[in-house]
Amino acid sequence: MGQIQSFLFIFLCVLGYVELAKGGSGLACNWGLQSTHPLPPDIVVRVLKEYGFNKVKLFEADPGALKALGRSGIQVMVGIPNYMLASLASAVGNAEAWGQRNVSNYISNHGTDIRSVAIGNEPFLRDYKDLFVNTIFPARQNIQAALIKAGLGKQVKATIPINADVYQTDSGLPSGGYFRPELQNLMMKIIKFLQDNGGFLTINIYPFLSMKADPSFPKEYAFFNNTAKPLVDGSIVYTNVYDANFDTLISALEKNGFGHMPVVIGEVGWPTDGDPSANIKNAKRFNQALLDRIVQGQGSPRRRTPSDVYIFSLIDEDHKSTLPGNFERHWGILRYDGGIKYPFGYGKWTSRRAGQRRQVFGQAMVCDVAFGRRGPQHVGSKHHLRLRERRLHQPRTMNQSKGACNFNNSAVITTVDPSKPPCRFEIMIDIRKQKKVASPTVYRSSAAKIQGIFAALILGIVGLVVCDVH
Ligand SMILES: *[C@@H]1O[C@H](CO)[C@@H](O)[C@H](O)[C@H]1NC(C)=O
Ligand SMILES: *[C@@H]1O[C@H](CO)[C@@H](O)[C@H](O)[C@H]1NC(C)=O
Ligand SMILES: *[C@@H]1O[C@H](CO)[C@@H](O)[C@H](O)[C@H]1NC(C)=O
Ligand SMILES: *[C@@H]1O[C@H](CO)[C@@H](O)[C@H](O)[C@H]1NC(C)=O
Repeated sequence: MGQIQSFLFIFLCVLGYVELAKGGSGLACNWGLQSTHPLPPDIVVRVLKEYGFNKVKLFEADPGALKALGRSGIQVMVGIPNYMLASLASAVGNAEAWGQRNVSNYISNHGTDIRSVAIGNEPFLRDYKDLFVNTIFPARQNIQAALIKAGLGKQVKATIPINADVYQTDSGLPSGGYFRPELQNLMMKIIKFLQDNGGFLTINIYPFLSMKADPSFPKEYAFFNNTAKPLVDGSIVYTNVYDANFDTLISALEKNGFGHMPVVIGEVGWPTDGDPSANIKNAKRFNQALLDRIVQGQGSPRRRTPSDVYIFSLIDEDHKSTLPGNFERHWGILRYDGGIKYPFGYGKWTSRRAGQRRQVFGQAMVCDVAFGRRGPQHVGSKHHLRLRERRLHQPRTMNQSKGACNFNNSAVITTVDPSKPPCRFEIMIDIRKQKKVASPTVYRSSAAKIQGIFAALILGIVGLVVCDVH
């Protein structure tokens, strides 16, 4: 081991572009950062714009992301992770420091358009037991006080993203919705406080998980299309679980006198791998149908005015815990190298295809690509391939040290991406080697209609290799 493999340079890029249908409330998505090699934030911001996303949700106040979003025209929801709740709840001074550092600072010094703060993330998840039950409300109060003190009480709204098991229905019908009895009082306190301060409620809805949890779940019901066997609730006919779930919450709110409480969908999406029903076809079908609804300004039967919908997620995160399932790392519309998984968009774009235009955006650094020609790296099935890939791949991509991809001299250096379906060599990114992204003017001149172009840099192909080549 230890033989230095030379670094190779390639130009490679994948790109997608969208011609925006201007107007409307626009598109929103989540930008998660749990990656070993996160895409450079300025590129992500460009991607967001090219796809027409004008709202983005961050799970925490990441400095790179918040700076890159400055003066981008994109509205930002900044999350506060659950682990910070106790400290924010314990002293208003901590909340003020958080607000100063993570909100005011970016608004005034970077022109970041922060519109809301998401306090905690699904704090009432049954898995957490009651871990955050006592801190969420005081944290919420302290953050509100901090925002008001900073003069941002009106400009920056607060919300708490809750998971859908905060409410339930015994009849199975949305009209039967009510809050879990043990949370009823707390939910009332929270909702009242949110309402009094002009905030909103945020709910995460996952038809994929509903389908996964129940083998007899009708597939079409997950995909907005159970017209054959809809759920009939009085005069309302539900053809999809997304609306039914949302309306269960609306019923619970109505029953408690909060029928007008604004509700935003904080997360909804479909993964592309890691589960039998997680694949590109399903993800494309679900997300495209969701997108069509958003573009059409469709609400639910009980609430006709559409809510903001934050799609989960923009990019795969290869460092997320797989505890909930192997699909956790595959929620992205884009792969974690920024490559497009499937055409996604609306308006004129839908008739085009991703990758129709290719342009070079930056120079890429390719690490060693190793071919496992024998031994334990040979794996037959695609499934195993992925598992193995994850295991072997990750630690080695952390630093891309010289020789890291040597694999005891079984590595082969290549200048071309050796991927052949279904075997795909993951491409990772070494930001240190990244060249400054080129200006997009070139493309504008050749394609005036295109609003802009995004290209994802593909930097390091890091080895692993399990697709054996005999
Ligand atoms: C700002 O947010 C980051 C990311 O969540 C956190 O690590 C940091 O402690 C926060 N700063 C303050 C002063 O609370
Ligand atoms: C919904 O299902 C019908 C037939 O049951 C089919 O014709 C239609 O294309 C489907 N629509 C979507 C969006 O899947
Ligand atoms: C990466 O390299 C840096 C500097 O050489 C080192 O400090 C750090 O611990 C390394 N990280 C990992 C995950 O190996
Ligand atoms: C590397 O290859 C040599 C010779 O085939 C072998 O003896 C050694 O155990 C291998 N080392 C590792 C870490 O696989």
